[in-house]
Amino acid sequence: MATRTKLAAEMDTPPAIEQPNVFPLSWKQGTAKMEEIWEASRREVWDPAQLSWDTFDPDSYTWEEREAMAYWWTLLSVFDASAPPVFASAFIKTYELHEEDAVRRCFFSVTQDEQNHEQMCGLAIRKLLAWDDPMTYEPKTELGMKAQRNAQWLYFNGGRYWEGYKQAVPKYSLAVLFSSFLMGEIAAATIFHQMAAGAREPVFQEAFTNIGRDEGRHMAICMTLMERDYPKLAVEDRDLITKQIRAGYLFLSAVLFEPPEDFWDLPADFIEVQRRCETVARDAGFHIPDYETKKENWRQAILNLKGVLDKYDIPFPAIPEVGIDGQEILDVEMEDIIPVF
Ligand SMILES: [Fe+2]
Ligand SMILES: [Fe+2]
Repeated sequence: MATRTKLAAEMDTPPAIEQPNVFPLSWKQGTAKMEEIWEASRREVWDPAQLSWDTFDPDSYTWEEREAMAYWWTLLSVFDASAPPVFASAFIKTYELHEEDAVRRCFFSVTQDEQNHEQMCGLAIRKLLAWDDPMTYEPKTELGMKAQRNAQWLYFNGGRYWEGYKQAVPKYSLAVLFSSFLMGEIAAATIFHQMAAGAREPVFQEAFTNIGRDEGRHMAICMTLMERDYPKLAVEDRDLITKQIRAGYLFLSAVLFEPPEDFWDLPADFIEVQRRCETVARDAGFHIPDYETKKENWRQAILNLKGVLDKYDIPFPAIPEVGIDGQEILDVEMEDIIPVF
């Protein structure tokens, strides 16, 4: 066995480490706002398992109502269950980039929050269906059967972006990677606050209040990062951001509005089934904003983001679905998605 030459025998101090190595040995201070957001994230930590589950009796609902509510949580989990690995890789990237200490901690907090959201989806689904997962569950009603088919298609679609994302992470800066993040977070924060306000079950009210607050912090993280990095953005990154915004709209519409047909690969009766589930859930006291409210939330979120991008002269994509004009972006594929939630 060849023995490795010990550098320490030849040199007084070690050679420079090839950069970027995976971790800094420094705790660089910089953006004060990030520090504030991190502190808020520590104050606002919550545990889905500790919510008032004892007040929740799934048997007080019909099976159709239970399946309809579980469908909504399943729809949310297609996004929130993919968020932990997405943010865990972004968190690693903050170390590779030797980001400011507080930025690293903020990405850690998002990873933790998203896992909480995923756990919350799981707890709700398990209680509602009295089964571990919505995929192998045996539906008890006709609507439940159709909802499960919808969920299978959502899951299939949502599973397709991971390879693309893995390739995008090392290639792009955090500011580019998370450019469409803001829009998702704004709309998510709004929708969860509305759902909390309208929820009849205390446990769902608590969950949506907490999730909405988390999304509000994620929004602030993103905004702070943009304000720090966009003034020095490379020109070629601008086009990429424009495309990402359009992609983010198409992707997130599935949960925050309705999935655009030519982007999502879904059966013809998908929307009809989803709307039926929403009506049943709503009538059972599980408040899901209606079509017009969702559309207006989305529009406001997009306009907010547009306000930010305009400041930095980044062209905005056209989003005719909610009445916003801009640069036309064609040919977005699921593989191009840098998922954000
Ligand atoms: Fe989330
Ligand atoms: Fe989030």
